[in-house]
Amino acid sequence: MGVALVTGASRGLGAQIARRLAADGWAVAVNYLPDRADAERVVAGIAEAGGRAEAFRADVTDEAAVAALVAQVEGRLGPIGVLVPNATGPQPAKPALEVGWQDHLDQLLFFVKSPTLLMRAVVPGMRRLGGGRIVQIGSEMPERAAPGMSAYAAAKAAQMSLTRTWARELGPLGVTVNLVAPGWIPVERHADVAVEHIEAYRRDVPLGRMGTPAEIADVVAFLASADSRFVTGERITVNGGYTMD
Ligand SMILES: NC(=O)c1ccc[n+]([C@@H]2O[C@H](COP(=O)([O-])OP(=O)(O)OC[C@H]3O[C@@H](n4cnc5c(N)ncnc54)[C@H](O)[C@@H]3O)[C@@H](O)[C@H]2O)c1
Repeated sequence: MGVALVTGASRGLGAQIARRLAADGWAVAVNYLPDRADAERVVAGIAEAGGRAEAFRADVTDEAAVAALVAQVEGRLGPIGVLVPNATGPQPAKPALEVGWQDHLDQLLFFVKSPTLLMRAVVPGMRRLGGGRIVQIGSEMPERAAPGMSAYAAAKAAQMSLTRTWARELGPLGVTVNLVAPGWIPVERHADVAVEHIEAYRRDVPLGRMGTPAEIADVVAFLASADSRFVTGERITVNGGYTMD
């Protein structure tokens, strides 16, 4: 079917997205930093399930590293038809009165700089393929507007804005650009979050439960597939109805 690159795919949502795309037949480049062992486990799991994947170490916020990553993936697996910018650094909560420019830059690094570097590096190959799919991983946070999360929410809103403009600019090249906005999906990094905190969120989810990484991956897989060929510039929020827009 072709090649999919998923960034930050050694754990969390990225790992599940990689597994799902591999199950659909994509050869998956599992980008990671720094957890090589975790990335190898994802790759081994995909191979055991009959899929194809390889692990690629790269800091996706660094321009030279992104160029090298895309060249390595194209060299080993072939041209990239699907890009999923998923990686994130820490997302610390901070009161608005304490948020400084560096706090904004820390988030923009992952949700504006990195997707931009990746998009610019993969689109020439997608052009040669006659088209491609960019599926950004956004967030419900711009709509939810949780106190303490202004830098993260602003960067995620910027990522959605990029999605729309890129959809217009890349549409004529056959490249669709969409965004999946997950609600709170407990993953490894939430292991220490108090049960009461999760329960307080869950109470306001119309579908009455927390979502799972597989439910995010299912929607990413749709947007990566031929079935979504006439969908571009869209956001699909996957949060059981927690926010509605
Ligand atoms: N899990 C949720 O509740 C949730 C909700 C909304 C949005 N999201 C979004 O989903 C995406 C994945 O989040 P997650 O919860 O799975 O987080 P995660 O921390 O489990 O996964 C992120 C991965 O990115 C990797 N990474 C960090 N810096 C990197 C770099 N410079 N280069 C390459 N990889 C790097 C990390 O090592 C990690 O493996 C993020 O964009 C996040 O904002 C998650």
